[in-house]
Amino acid sequence: MNELAVALEAARAAARLLEERPKRVDHKGVVDLVTEIDRACEAAVREVLARHTPDIEVLGEEEGGSTRATRWVVDPLDGTTNFVHGFPAYAVSVGLEVDGEPVVGVVIDAARGVEYAAAKGRGATADGEPIRVSEVRSLEQALLATGFPYDRRERAAHYLKSVKRALETSQGVRRAGAAALDLALVAAGRLDAYWEFTLSPWDVSAGIVLVREAGGVVTAHDGSPIDRHRPCPLAANPYLHDAMIRMLAEAHA
Ligand code: IPD
Ligand code: CA
Ligand code: CA
Repeated sequence: MNELAVALEAARAAARLLEERPKRVDHKGVVDLVTEIDRACEAAVREVLARHTPDIEVLGEEEGGSTRATRWVVDPLDGTTNFVHGFPAYAVSVGLEVDGEPVVGVVIDAARGVEYAAAKGRGATADGEPIRVSEVRSLEQALLATGFPYDRRERAAHYLKSVKRALETSQGVRRAGAAALDLALVAAGRLDAYWEFTLSPWDVSAGIVLVREAGGVVTAHDGSPIDRHRPCPLAANPYLHDAMIRMLAEAHA
């Protein structure tokens, strides 16, 4: 079984569990929720990965794990707050990094039942159909998305600077609340660009492969290579990437 098929099987095992509503919600922080389903989803993903690829270590949001350059990177439930509220934007994200580079990515949009998948050099698909980033060439015509990390209460003013600039220059700004899905939607050309501050590897690893294989660009906000440990992603179609770098630089000047 190749790694993309393994990632799909693992993500499906977790997505099945998201058909239930959560019974118990704990708080990691004031705005950071975790449900018993986050943990069950991670266990389901790990079980599949351990069965097919016992030699590859796993980093998962709930159980932690590998710091190796070659590893599975798992967000068992991205968009927990949405899931708890029943807002239909949450996903399972399973990525494989080899020598520090994301090379396989599967993101399952569990509420809509769409499977996004990509492997380096093999393109990106949604439910098996090829997807491409959009061809929008100006920010004025672009639909953008962002997100707010869990220190949003302390750093709201900082995050709002780029939102303000984006509202002034683009066609619209969305904040759906699941980073892996934001990346998948850029890959599918439904969003033209997406940026966010200080995420974790599991939020972006799979989505990066989707965007790149769909013809898009993913970097840090200034265009430099993304930090795989504390990623601040900027994902865009290739025509908008420079304009997004300028927009973010202006916002934070
Ligand atoms: C969160 C979501 C959200 C983003 C946060 C993430 P979680 O992940 O991706 O969109 O804005 O920064 O931490 O906690 O729901 O897996
Ligand atoms: Ca996440
Ligand atoms: Ca999560």
